[in-house]
Amino acid sequence: MAEEPKKPTILVVDDDSEIRYSLDRVLSGRGYQVAAAGSGEDGVEMVRTTSPDIVFLDIRMGGMSGIETLQHMRAINNRLPIILMTAFGTAQTAIEAMKYGAFDYIMKPFDPVRVTKLAEAALKALHDMHRAGDYEPRLRSEDWKEGIVGTSAAMQEVFKIIGQVAASDATVLVTGESGTGKELIARCIVQHSLRARGAYAAVNCAAIPENLIESELFGHEKGSFTGATAQRLGKFEQCDGGTIFLDEIGDMTLATQTKILRVLQEGEIQRVGGSEIIKVDVRVVAATNKDIEEMVRQKTFREDLYYRLNVVRVRVPPLRDRVEDVPEIVEFMLQRLEKNRKSRVRRVAPEAMAVLSQHTWPGNVRELENVIHRSAVVAQGDTILLKDFPPELRAGAEVEASVDVPTAPAEPGPQASSAPSADAPSEEPSILFDRLFACLQTSQASGVLKQIEGEMIRRALNHFSGDPGKAAEFLGLSRNVLKKRSEDLGI
Ligand SMILES: Nc1ncnc2c1ncn2[C@@H]1O[C@H](COP(=O)(O)OP(=O)(O)OP(=O)(O)O)[C@@H](O)[C@H]1O
Ligand SMILES: [Mg+2]
Repeated sequence: MAEEPKKPTILVVDDDSEIRYSLDRVLSGRGYQVAAAGSGEDGVEMVRTTSPDIVFLDIRMGGMSGIETLQHMRAINNRLPIILMTAFGTAQTAIEAMKYGAFDYIMKPFDPVRVTKLAEAALKALHDMHRAGDYEPRLRSEDWKEGIVGTSAAMQEVFKIIGQVAASDATVLVTGESGTGKELIARCIVQHSLRARGAYAAVNCAAIPENLIESELFGHEKGSFTGATAQRLGKFEQCDGGTIFLDEIGDMTLATQTKILRVLQEGEIQRVGGSEIIKVDVRVVAATNKDIEEMVRQKTFREDLYYRLNVVRVRVPPLRDRVEDVPEIVEFMLQRLEKNRKSRVRRVAPEAMAVLSQHTWPGNVRELENVIHRSAVVAQGDTILLKDFPPELRAGAEVEASVDVPTAPAEPGPQASSAPSADAPSEEPSILFDRLFACLQTSQASGVLKQIEGEMIRRALNHFSGDPGKAAEFLGLSRNVLKKRSEDLGI
């Protein structure tokens, strides 16, 4: 007889024998192999010796508490999904449970359907984590030092320019959309320059009120304006022999621009309210996310200053033009979080990474960084899964996944055959439809189905650049039906 595939095993830990019995009944009935322990201590021992796939764990037990037990179990197996159970539902216990890395949290008395759904979701998460297991780290330790990563051709160009200007004192203008890494690049330029050991200051021209920026940059004499109770040195004087980073330079007034021009041309400044002319030796690295050439055309930015700043130009490409960098940037950020002991997450599951690579990232690397930080916080185990992403990122993926992968992902073991799934459909599509239905209810839309159909056809056609063959295949329609429906819907 052929060997039966191993059934998924579930460990139930509760000091109440009735709970153990009822969970055993529900879960065995679903085709799972169930084992039980009557205390936290025994539960930990069983995790060590029998390696269950999932654990249902009571929070309040005599002896070792549920939270303590959970921590011991996770020290043995960081990926083990643990579902905490409690009869006392307070915000605090729920928060505590999730904080310590529980997979989920369920209230007694149990709804058997919810128990089964949780077990299925936990197994799926485990499965996704295992599939992601062969993700090899690619970052070398050198990449760490720079704090800046990217193997795309576009970023390699940027790195080359940084290397080229390292030994010169040339003024550098860094431009690019918000969040592309301009400040990081500016710092990198400074670190590699001859002035690396010299003073350095960053001034955000957009953040300082107009009436204070001159004093900030050039300093002031005592009594030069209300509040100037003492003499103060400005950033240019402080950075003598070093470098100044002028950030958001497109937000400077024309008056300030004139003074900056003077430093660049003559190497001299005057404090606000002072008459003394002071020589300074400062290298300037500037950055802006504005279209500076357009500003010059509009005469809101001085042309002569523009030429002075634009001696070397570093154009930082938006992230959507270098999506090949996304996996590496993600890995870098996860390593940094781990190093700072802020997370134990090591990788992103392939289907989740695919979503990251397809997103258009209007907020560029900063937006990606936020997504990774947030997802690492909610992820359990060592892998970020699709479900850990914020809903706006997930929504598109769920639609695509249900189309791209028509066959359900293979679950481990006999789950598909022995655990009937007809009445417990997988979580994602139902959430999507719940949400959609709720939206439709509140918007009181009429002709809803037509609208959805029309929208899907339009999007599919757009996505495949108007190719009706590909769009039809994507939507699971024949070309003729697609044509007919498009005509009916006036597309
Ligand atoms: N190539 C990269 N590798 C690693 N981290 C990066 C990279 N580029 C940007 N970052 C990170 O992304 C965040 C945003 O970068 P930064 O502040 O330099 O952007 P910016 O272009 O100056 O944005 P803004 O125009 O909004 O000021 C920072 O936390 C930075 O560390
Ligand atoms: Mg910046």
